[in-house]
This record gives sequence, C-alpha cells and structure tokens, in this order.
Amino acid sequence: MAEELRIPHGVDKVEVYQSLLPQIRSLVEIESDGMANLCNMLAALNQSFDWLWVGLYFVKDSELVLGPFQGPVACTRIAFGKGVCGSSWKDQTTIIVPDVDAFPGHIACSTLSKSEIVVPIFRNGNVIAVLDVDSEHVGHFDEFDKQYLEELSELFEKFIS
Ligand code: SME
Repeated sequence: MAEELRIPHGVDKVEVYQSLLPQIRSLVEIESDGMANLCNMLAALNQSFDWLWVGLYFVKDSELVLGPFQGPVACTRIAFGKGVCGSSWKDQTTIIVPDVDAFPGHIACSTLSKSEIVVPIFRNGNVIAVLDVDSEHVGHFDEFDKQYLEELSELFEKFIS
C-alpha cells in the first residue's frame, strides 16, 4: 500500500509539526512491526524538514549504538557522557546545540553538521535511546523543535524493542 505524506510548504516549522504529527500517528497505527515504524517515522521527519541527519542511537551494552537513520553514514558507537548524544543520555535531558563548534566534546560524524538537537527516549524512567537531529545551518533548532520532538519521543519509545 502506498503511503504519502501531505506536508505544507512555505509555512513555519510549528505548522509543519502540527500537520506531520497526526500523519505519523496514522502511519504507525496500521503497522505492528516496531522497526518498520521507527524507520518510517524517521523518513517522515526527514521528508518534512531541511535537516542533514536524523536518527536513533540505542542504549546497548552500556554505550550508544547506531540505529535506523536518514542521512550520511554516521559514527556507530558513542560512550556514556561523550558528545551531545552521550551527554543527553547522561543528563537525561534534551540538549540543543546552536553551534557544534562551541560544544566541548562534540563528535563530528559529518563536517557539514553545524547545529544539533538530541532528545532522550525514556522507558520506566531510564534512557533507552536518543533521537539525534543535525542541521547544516547554525542555530537551526529551538524550543519548538524540543517540544514536538519530545512529544514524538514517546511514540518512538513504543516501537523500540
Ligand atoms: N554529533 C553527535 C554524534 C552523532 S552524529 O551527529 C550523527 C554527538 O556529538 O554526540
């Protein structure tokens, strides 16, 4: 069955998120496979925004291991507390980095990445994964991205095994 998103163009990001989130919810409710839904959620985000990279790192064996993503090849393993992803895991909070060059310890998987947001995904109070988004533009992410991506992180959690 063909699935198509209807994403408004020429509107601000809040309108894009508000249009996209219900469409993502519809997309995943018709599929029972968790990984299929994770992949489609990431594809839907990638299709809707001008981002360089969007993907998941799973907590596995006491480190972060690369999961499904959209974008250029990326670092496969990140230690607890390292980089933006490892810091988000350690601090159990969303981190917005307006300028990656100004973030001590930032891990540059791609030299094209200029700003970043990382959202932890919780289950029973523990971080089980992080959602990482990179942009080629400085200062690309703000409180609106935080709000909607945190909302989506609860949906991601349902499909992580
Ligand atoms: N920049 C991240 C590493 C992951 S990549 O951006 C995909 C970090 O500092 O944790």
